[in-house]
Amino acid sequence: MDSLLPGAAALNERHGIAGRLAFAVMYGGIVAVLSHGGARAIVALQGAQVLSYETPDCGEVLWLSPHAQLGTGKPVRGGIPVCWPWFGPHPGGGGQPAHGLVRARSWRVAATSAGGDGTRLSLDVEPADASAAAWPHRARVTLDVTLTDEGLVLGLSTENLDAAPLALTQALHTYLRAGGIDAVTISGLEGCAFIDQLDPGPLKREAQSLRIGCEVDRIYQGDCRVITLSDTALARTISVASGGSASAVVWNPWIEKSARLGDMGPDGYRHMVCIETANAGADVVHLTPGARHTLSAHIRAVAHS
Ligand code: BG6
Repeated sequence: MDSLLPGAAALNERHGIAGRLAFAVMYGGIVAVLSHGGARAIVALQGAQVLSYETPDCGEVLWLSPHAQLGTGKPVRGGIPVCWPWFGPHPGGGGQPAHGLVRARSWRVAATSAGGDGTRLSLDVEPADASAAAWPHRARVTLDVTLTDEGLVLGLSTENLDAAPLALTQALHTYLRAGGIDAVTISGLEGCAFIDQLDPGPLKREAQSLRIGCEVDRIYQGDCRVITLSDTALARTISVASGGSASAVVWNPWIEKSARLGDMGPDGYRHMVCIETANAGADVVHLTPGARHTLSAHIRAVAHS
């Protein structure tokens, strides 16, 4: 852990909870370190991005780029980026960042708490005025991260503060760490229709559980409420259960795209799979004035006995 900067010290005074939640400087930026029952999560204020989630039985659950650096103006690859208020390219095309406006923004600490059931951090951000052309709405977006005995729970809530309705797509873009890509099987998507982002055209359908041996970029539509990643190399199964969602994304960039991205590390694609809890594709959230929507993901790792 790097030294404590004044920003982190002030946050500790106001929001720190002894033994449960502390602010510190890591990866060149301010993070919150949450503890509960031997588990630990690290959340960067930049992008409200979970960077690490470790449990006593399973170790690190998430994959993070070896090049992870906060404060560069670019989003960090890995952990759980928040994609909001659009998933993928901007719906209007051209000039706007992929995956929305808040990945590289600094979020505000709204609240912290700790009790027998877990340790919680709430972060929020006001979409920048400068983004009005890209997304001309007023909304409050909050991410609640709760570390519990039963896993890590994220809730991404949007409240429409406008007098007009708004539409959004979004994702909790979870990078799961894998012992080796050959040792991974993804279940829970059997029978689901999907948009193949690498082969645009009619919807395809997943026949069976998924093994990854090439680039994969799929938006599943419909009931994908619990997706599991079984990893025989790390002898564990991770489940991702979603709420407020009728879509999910599975992504692995494989060799050539990894080389183009530049921040995957030499064999990063062999040690990660994204299972993203989403409102994407045809799964668009429509909010009337004053309405609120929460997209949630519950990530749990269980060691094989
Ligand atoms: C996935 C998308 O969610 O994110 C992919 O389905 C995209 O198409 C990937 O390449 C990574 O996006 P980015 O902006 O983090 O490089």
